[in-house]
Amino acid sequence: MKERLDKILASQNIGSRKDVGLLIRKGAITVNGIVVKKSDTKADGEKDEICIHGVPLQFKRHLYLMMNKPAGVLSAARDSRMPTVLDLLPKAYQRRGLFPAGRLDRDTEGLLIITDDGDFAHKMLSPKNNIYKVYQAKLNIPVADKDIAAFKTGITIGDLHCLPARLERLEKDGEPWAQVTICEGKFHQVKRMFLACGKQVEYLERIKIGNLALDTDLHRGEVRELTEQEKAAIFS
Ligand code: URA
Repeated sequence: MKERLDKILASQNIGSRKDVGLLIRKGAITVNGIVVKKSDTKADGEKDEICIHGVPLQFKRHLYLMMNKPAGVLSAARDSRMPTVLDLLPKAYQRRGLFPAGRLDRDTEGLLIITDDGDFAHKMLSPKNNIYKVYQAKLNIPVADKDIAAFKTGITIGDLHCLPARLERLEKDGEPWAQVTICEGKFHQVKRMFLACGKQVEYLERIKIGNLALDTDLHRGEVRELTEQEKAAIFS
């Protein structure tokens, strides 16, 4: 796809449109080996070799990041009062159009995808596509057999009708934990499903989306790019 050179460079976090315009006018940019001095010159980020001071640009149409979300930050693009997951991104990953694909509550931790690809996010989040999300929850009371049956049937809380979900009993350090697998992402869904069974979630972490597991080498608040295999694993 042919686009203005300054737009391509600005989209790759090289600098603002003004900054990259200056670089272009200074003769720092070549396209297929030829110095280009006009910002409105058309180029194809995927097909043309664009160099900045002789260094080839690693063009990426979209960015796909895995974050190990910590508690205390909002899953939102920007907020005037609270820190958001985008505020945690290192400079190298800051670019226009990024957003968290799906929300985790402020106190929920774990696997969060951040991207600027709206189609990808929609495909991942639409319940029609049956992409399962796996959560582990620390509860105030252990899971009962009737809770497992209720989750399996599909819980209804007021006007919230949940699709059938899988609930498994876990135990960690003698504390009551549970693993929940759902393919929706309604507001406070896991907490509300447990509340409907008379239980409170004391801690919640998402550990998997589709077949993509949270990289346990990522510390809370850290991000890294997804590999092509990992992107595919979400949908496999
Ligand atoms: N369900 C919840 O209740 N909270 C989350 O953050 C995610 C799923």
